[in-house]
Parts: sequence; structure tokens; C-alpha cells
Amino acid sequence: NGGNSESRGALIVLEGLDRSGKTSQSSRLLTYLEGLGHSAELWRFPDRSTNVGQMISSYLSNNSQLDDHTIHLLFSANRWEKRSLMETKLKTGTILIVDRYSYSGVAFSSAKGLDIEWCKAPEIGLPAPDLVVYLDIQPEKAAERGGYGAERYEQLEFQRKVAHCYQSLHDASWKIIDACQPIEDIEKHLQESVLDCVMTCQKGKPLSYLWS
Ligand code: TMP
Repeated sequence: NGGNSESRGALIVLEGLDRSGKTSQSSRLLTYLEGLGHSAELWRFPDRSTNVGQMISSYLSNNSQLDDHTIHLLFSANRWEKRSLMETKLKTGTILIVDRYSYSGVAFSSAKGLDIEWCKAPEIGLPAPDLVVYLDIQPEKAAERGGYGAERYEQLEFQRKVAHCYQSLHDASWKIIDACQPIEDIEKHLQESVLDCVMTCQKGKPLSYLWS
């Protein structure tokens, strides 16, 4: 460990449509990493516990109306308000598993017709994930799963557009996992993809920033 190569925690992001299984896979991954003796935390965006998060939550449950640009910036602000804590955790060696991040921000807002570059702009400078895992599911399949339809975006037609927007966002570095496999298989694939990334960060891979 010479020069500026400081050991740190990995920033791992899970993305996917609503009902793709991100939340249960994130918590399984947390258990796995902790079992290996790592310090790890599970985060999610939106973080509904803050003031900004409560505005977002009220919007999502259709209790308030906001202009598309305004809600987009609130989602982004909700990440910015957690940025310094995020960096501190990573630098002190904690792995962060994050259920949704800037990619959700861009995919959901551009699915409404907002310009994609405009959507990406407020995310510039946030910590970049070391790994993005996309849980891939057909919108129709996701809709068949339980609990769909309660919140604002949980509609098949809209999720189809979101799926399309995610497609134009991802690059070769994303790990795409078929979300219709048995959950144990998804879990295994996820564990395999994550370990490499955790090691590289432990060895001192520098933290980078969006959009890179
Ligand atoms: P959740 O169900 O994972 O809590 O997310 C709530 C909804 O908010 C989900 O439909 C995705 C959407 N969303 C955005 O539109 N922009 C964002 O930046 C994030 C993080 C989520």
C-alpha cells in the first residue's frame, strides 16, 4: 500500500424496474458480506427520512403534485445531502450497498420526456459506483409480481418507458443479471460479481465521480 492507494469500502449500486427484486437481493448481499467479516451497510434512494425525502415520499404516494423538473432535482438533492456521509463511510472502509442511485434518477425522469443530458447534469460530482448491478426483468413480468400499482410510477406503460431509458444508460461495465431466475441463483451471481469489486477497492482503487 504505497502512495495514495488507501484501502476503502466499495460503492455497489443495484438498479432495476420496480418489483425487480432489488430490495430483497440487497439485504441478502448485506448478510453475505457481513458473514465474510466485512463492514457493510445497506442504503436506499430515495432516503425518505430527511425533509427532502419526505417531500419525495408525499409526491410518490400522490399526496402532492410537483413539476417534473422540480421532483427530478429533489431526487438529486436527496443524494447530495448524503454525499459527505457516503464518502466518509467509504473512506473508513465500509462497503455501501445502495438500492437505486443516479441511474434511477435519470431513467425515471427521462421516461417522462425530460432531456437526458439535463437529467444527468445535477448528478455530476456525486461518488461514482464501483459496480452497478442491473436486475433485468420484463416490465410485464414485474407487473405480475405482488404489490404493484400502489405508488405513482408503478404502472406498466410507464415502466416500459423506464426500461427503455435504462437501456440507453448502461455501458459495458454494468453487470446484468436475469431477475427471473430462482432467487438463490440471482444471489449467487450477485455474490460473484461483487467480490472482485470489493477486493479492488480494498487494494486502494481511487474513488471516482459521476459521470465516469
Ligand atoms: P423505491 O420504490 O425504490 O423506494 O423508489 C421509489 C420510486 O422513485 C421508484 O418508482 C423509482 C423512483 N425514483 C426516481 O424517480 N428517481 C430517483 O432518483 C430515485 C432514486 C427513484
